[in-house]
Amino acid sequence: MTGRGDAIAAGLLAAALLGAGQVVAQQQPAAPRTQGFLPLPTAKLYADTCAGCHGDGRTAGRAPNILDQKLLAQRTDEQLHRTIRDGVPDAGMPAFRDMLTDAQIWQLAAHLRLEAGYQAFEPVFVENPAGKVIRSEKQAFRLDVVAEGLETPWGMAFLPDGRMLVTERPGRLRIIHKGKLLPPVTGLPEVFERQDAGLLDVTVHPDYRRNGWIYLSYVEMAPGHTAPPRATASLPYSQRPPNPPNMTVVIRGRIDARNRWVDSQPVFRAPYSLYTANGSHYGSRFAWDRQGKLLFSVGDRGDMANAQKLDNPLGKIHRVNDDGTPAADNPFVNTPGAWPTIWSLGHRNPEGLAWQPGTGALWESEHGPVGGDEINIVEKGKNYGWGVVSMGIQPGITARFREGMEPPVVHYTPTIAPAGIAFYSGDRYPGWRNSLFVTGLVGQQLRRLEVKGREVTGQEVLFQQFGRVRAVSQGPDGYLYILLQSPTGAGTTINVIASTPGGVFRLTPVN
Ligand code: HEC
Repeated sequence: MTGRGDAIAAGLLAAALLGAGQVVAQQQPAAPRTQGFLPLPTAKLYADTCAGCHGDGRTAGRAPNILDQKLLAQRTDEQLHRTIRDGVPDAGMPAFRDMLTDAQIWQLAAHLRLEAGYQAFEPVFVENPAGKVIRSEKQAFRLDVVAEGLETPWGMAFLPDGRMLVTERPGRLRIIHKGKLLPPVTGLPEVFERQDAGLLDVTVHPDYRRNGWIYLSYVEMAPGHTAPPRATASLPYSQRPPNPPNMTVVIRGRIDARNRWVDSQPVFRAPYSLYTANGSHYGSRFAWDRQGKLLFSVGDRGDMANAQKLDNPLGKIHRVNDDGTPAADNPFVNTPGAWPTIWSLGHRNPEGLAWQPGTGALWESEHGPVGGDEINIVEKGKNYGWGVVSMGIQPGITARFREGMEPPVVHYTPTIAPAGIAFYSGDRYPGWRNSLFVTGLVGQQLRRLEVKGREVTGQEVLFQQFGRVRAVSQGPDGYLYILLQSPTGAGTTINVIASTPGGVFRLTPVN
């Protein structure tokens, strides 16, 4: 417990709404520089074309500093685009419409937000938030430890009797019973853990009391392969042993009275020909719909073309019966050659799924390329554009919108790297009802979005100093729970994708 002196004010952010497109572009802390992005053509374009007048954000130029988050928060992307295209002739800002393509101008607008974010991001990390009190716009709360000493906790679920299931990315499934962390469940399949890969989400069958089914998603190696020794995070990519071919799979099974995983059955497994050595973008969040169908996300595995192919399961949200067979009313069950479990397509790396109370709409979060993280409303058969359109910077993508492709409800540039999301529908925090909670990995934050129908009307960062936030869930007791991982990146020497210690925390309301 802590007193007032220990209270931490949450960072409040203004959200600028942009009318019909419902896109919110706002100022926020960004990715730490230690991410090691390669120099992008857009950064070079800025250095060659703009920095001569505007400076590089650190040293002043003769025109105003535009790598400034305060200034950018007051400008929409559209306004930045218009200024760069048409110039400010009276003030000596040339029009770039004949010198740059429209795509380059949009990318420069994204670049301004990215670069300003990098330069402003210097969070003061707090190793262990236990007992910290946070005062936010509508609710004060304390972070209470539920379980500590977990390594990269990824997913959580609740059993009807109140026990909590938590996955640890290296391959362990744990039960928390009356505040006690039990030893790992034995007999789980071998898991490949590297970069984004490992044991991922967990969910409980809606009719668990009767059938006992628990579902897990994880990354498996193609048969005949063994995992290379675990590389330390500090080793450069070029010196790491190559990955074996690997892929996201979903299984279901039961946990018996002796804490063993039994009755294991496959629910989703792609042909081995689709397994690749890429170590990124497995997606993997679960959600059950009202018809008792299981939805789960699968990322594009680093190849954006996959997301647009109907005959490929990558870069999709899938919907299946509880045994893994395609749901009969799925949108592409009658399309020749199409993967019958596809519910929606055009996703990059969707790590969050949440049902909206009242409307029953399915909201989703996905990681953008450089900038351009998205919050979407996912609907049957729709295309969310990855591979063709993006609000971020990606070689090969030149447009932000296209007919027939759904724009995000909100997007984030610079990147926060959204993982799990959850709507709040309980009564423990009266001001938070119907808010959407969004976790951030690179952004190391928990963010609250005020939502009215299909629109986000405001945003608030609840905290951003306790490390990577991987998942958020409302427990059956009405409290919000989060999975945290130690602070990484800026200010530490830990690579952001390394497995690190973490824990489960509860947001306990205080006055
Ligand atoms: C020859 C000098 C010059 C060059 C080159 C130049 N600018 Fe400007 N820019 C200016 C001046 C001067 C202003 C006007 C400032 C004011 O309104 O007082 C301006 C204004 C802007 C603004 C509007 C700022 C605001 O307050 O809304 C943006 C955005 C901008 N420039 C972006 C760019 C980008 C991107 C490039 C490179 C493609 C670029 N500029 C190249 C001189 C330049």
